[in-house]
Amino acid sequence: MAMCGIVGYVGEREALPIVLGSLQRIEYRGYDSCGILVQDSANGQVYMHKGLESIDELMEILPLCDYHGNIGIGHTRWATHGTPSVRNAHPHLDCNGEIAVVHNGIIENFQSLKEGLLRNCRFRSDTDTEVIPHLIENTLMRIRDSGESGEELLKDAIRESLSYLKGSYAIIVAIKGFDGLIAARRESPLIIGVGDRENFIASDVPAVLEQTNRVIYLEEGDIAVVKKDGIYIENGAVEVKRVVRLIPWTIEDAEKGGYEHFMLKEIHEEPKAIIDTLRGYLTETGIELGFDARHDIMMVACGTSYYAALCGKYIIEHIARIPVQVELASEFNYSDTVLGDDKTVIAMTQSGETADTLMALKKAKRFGCHTVAITNVVGSSVTRIADDTVYIRAGPEIGVAATKSFIAQLVTIYLLGLYLADIPRHDLEGWIEELKRLPQLAQMVIDDSNAVIQDIARYLAGFENVFFVGRGVNLPVALEGALKLKEISYIHAEGYAAGELKHGPFALLTNATPVVAILSNDNVYEKLLGNIKEIKARDAPVVAVAVEGDDEIEKYVDAVIRVPATRALLSPIPNSVALHLLAYWAAKARGCEIDKPRNLAKSVTVE
Ligand code: F6R
Repeated sequence: MAMCGIVGYVGEREALPIVLGSLQRIEYRGYDSCGILVQDSANGQVYMHKGLESIDELMEILPLCDYHGNIGIGHTRWATHGTPSVRNAHPHLDCNGEIAVVHNGIIENFQSLKEGLLRNCRFRSDTDTEVIPHLIENTLMRIRDSGESGEELLKDAIRESLSYLKGSYAIIVAIKGFDGLIAARRESPLIIGVGDRENFIASDVPAVLEQTNRVIYLEEGDIAVVKKDGIYIENGAVEVKRVVRLIPWTIEDAEKGGYEHFMLKEIHEEPKAIIDTLRGYLTETGIELGFDARHDIMMVACGTSYYAALCGKYIIEHIARIPVQVELASEFNYSDTVLGDDKTVIAMTQSGETADTLMALKKAKRFGCHTVAITNVVGSSVTRIADDTVYIRAGPEIGVAATKSFIAQLVTIYLLGLYLADIPRHDLEGWIEELKRLPQLAQMVIDDSNAVIQDIARYLAGFENVFFVGRGVNLPVALEGALKLKEISYIHAEGYAAGELKHGPFALLTNATPVVAILSNDNVYEKLLGNIKEIKARDAPVVAVAVEGDDEIEKYVDAVIRVPATRALLSPIPNSVALHLLAYWAAKARGCEIDKPRNLAKSVTVE
């Protein structure tokens, strides 16, 4: 399962309160179910509890005397595969209940592994994770005859089992009768907290900080055997040494991964949100979203999600040549619009709980439309209304302003456009290749343009009104840029179609109304350049977001934020990363409370 929290403890103290305390420290990431397992090495007893309760509730209901032992593992699950339920909560066990695994990540080939394992094993959950304990069990049984025993045998079995997995994982394995825990990672973070006659394992630093500030960051492919008085780490079956670092952060700093705000952390997670979203739906033969759409598409959404849907109109109409209508959910709900049952209506909602969007989807259902939810939260209300659901896999978003979820929504829309398109195989492959470059392009904006963006943001922070303009697929990006700036910096910002300014807003242009223009190498580039010249002629300062190598633009504007080039239709991704950073740094320059802007809530569950 992706986006989960995992923790482990080996030592001399009671494991239960430490495991629960560690889980509590990573609760802020959000979870829908959780589980713990405690092992008593003295008598070999194993105790497990899985449920939909909160960690606070577990602290109340699990009596220490019944969960006695000094080895423990725990998990908070944020479902991406299989609904939130007791049976899908971790730890997952092998058939004999002797090997327990908690996992963060996605096992991409779990279906084929599961089919192979079904001959010998009984599966109890719908998760990808459960293949791991079964694989370890099978491998152990097979190699036991080789004469090896004890720790060497376990290491060999786990090493071999992990070699069958495709995808990402950070896991902790507890084995009945073994006096330690085994941890391993690939493409998912995992750390070891080093204590005194005790050690801790966790997916996130805050989970261990209350106990120790000495931390080992496991590296790609590391497998670690963690005991109370020793840590052995290997990589590629060879023992390796990893440095112990002293973490200078407070727990609060650590929750934000060392970033000052969740919003900044989440912008830095945008490349990963793209990777995870693509990974969920790209198959060896193309793209699989798991449903058939009807001919016409309508999308309903609010706020940032509405802008993602608006981008969707340009994207899907271009790639798939299917007409797409986009409506604000709150408007559609009271409109006289009549829908035919030949439509697929898509609700775009990060939280899956926005009241207006839910109501719009119910209205579409009453017209007999096929309904689809695109959301970030497994099991959220929208998934229970829609006929089909596509998850965006952005991971928990804590900052009120949507950032990485917007990026993941865009990625989902590209996938949807390509999924619906009837295009030659060669063209599809070309698109997929370019989609796979997007994480790298997003990272380049973060690494290479951040300093320029900070300067420009400090400049914009001195104004009270800013326009954002764009054309084509970058018009919704301009609208999103303006929304983000206004909601967190409280600067009045308006997003406008660049060609529309002359139909009224020109009256507002002075040297005190900067304009941010979003460009890309597309068929409206020249038109937008013309609009920029008109704006400059009214004395308004212009900041351009433009691709690397566009030398023309510099002649007409006051400052340029550079983004790497990609296909014009994909430019909303690098452009939006730049605009999210711009809003963040402007709000920071104005000393605003960035993660919780005034009067706003993360999910808007009232109409
Ligand atoms: C702005 C923002 C909001 C949400 C809107 C819809 O940064 O986050 O505009 O996009 O409230 O929320 P969801 O996507 O949860 O339906």
